[in-house]
Amino acid sequence: MPFLAAATALTVAATAVVSAVAVPETLPKASASTFSLQGWATQGGGTSGGGSASPVTVPRLRPAGAPVGWPDTTGEGGREPPGSDSRASTAWVPEATKSRSLVVHRVLHLSDTHVSRTGPDEDGVDGLAALQQLLYDVRYEPALDLVVVSGDIADDGSKEGCLAVRSAVSSFAADRGIPQIYSTGNHDRREGFEAALGWGHLDPDGAPIGRRAQVDGVIAAVSEINGLRVITLDSLVPGETHGALGRDQLDWLAAELAAPAPGGSIVVLHHPPISVDAIPYMKSVVLQEPAALGDVLAGTDVHAVLCGHLHHQLSGMVGEKPVWATPGVVTRIDLTAPSALARGVLGAGATVIDLGGPSSPMFHTLHARDPRAGSEVYVYDPLTGEETTESS
Ligand SMILES: [Fe+2]
Ligand SMILES: [Fe+2]
Repeated sequence: MPFLAAATALTVAATAVVSAVAVPETLPKASASTFSLQGWATQGGGTSGGGSASPVTVPRLRPAGAPVGWPDTTGEGGREPPGSDSRASTAWVPEATKSRSLVVHRVLHLSDTHVSRTGPDEDGVDGLAALQQLLYDVRYEPALDLVVVSGDIADDGSKEGCLAVRSAVSSFAADRGIPQIYSTGNHDRREGFEAALGWGHLDPDGAPIGRRAQVDGVIAAVSEINGLRVITLDSLVPGETHGALGRDQLDWLAAELAAPAPGGSIVVLHHPPISVDAIPYMKSVVLQEPAALGDVLAGTDVHAVLCGHLHHQLSGMVGEKPVWATPGVVTRIDLTAPSALARGVLGAGATVIDLGGPSSPMFHTLHARDPRAGSEVYVYDPLTGEETTESS
């Protein structure tokens, strides 16, 4: 169950039959042009059946050997060299988008991949296959500046789970010459996250960008991508399902936001800083003391706060700033279940966020083209945590 920390989760019999994804100790970088959908095709309820799907070739957007940022529409060559301006420690300029206005950005927002050391999550769902299918299905989405993954990357907190996600996302990012940004979630463990992803801000080829916050015990960071400042916060509370931000992290955030960025800012954290009053089991697991974050964000250049965790697309406000929770990759919560129950179903989703236009921020929700979408994975009683059925 997505909201329960691994330490307290009850075992739930998954109705989806899945194939395991073998994750090697050290993953080679994925092929930039091929995603294997083998695990996907063997899952129950699908139409392909048989488990012998052929690898699917993804159109390559950046030819092998081409420089990062290909094509260079500016005629200015590769990436902006470090030290070229006062923001050199965090600045990144994808040359493919460099000629566009600095106030227009597109962000692909993913969350909750829940890939484990052995592949499937605790409910038996193959999050890596879901991620690969989703990335394949968004291959035509134009003019992306970056891809963000807002936590619960590894279902079991393992380095191997994070490496598997990094491999898939890196392939997508490298093809487009865009950076990849990750934040921690309640299922992640900081040591596993850091071993696989560093502080979570990577260039298209996987090298670290930006700067880590000098705040003890958390993995928060900042980078600037084509003028857009991207700040990741660490709301992970080990062993707990809810999230929290300490005073030190909030003070660091306030200092980072003290001066505006050319294209404004986005803040990424796993736990939504909103009160979901109508859905008690969501209300109890979001960010604690959201008003403290709202106070820090007030009057700043932050366009929006991007979150995950709920496996449910949802918008709200924290003070004067919009909050967006993107749908989960591994499963989504189905609100057509009886109100006393929580039902998780298959069906990966993501968001493309447009920033800087006259209607900014604008959130486009995308869904993987999965014939099994809507298939039930679990139903449980949030009050007891016990598996149940809809008719009980
Ligand atoms: Fe999650
Ligand atoms: Fe979560």
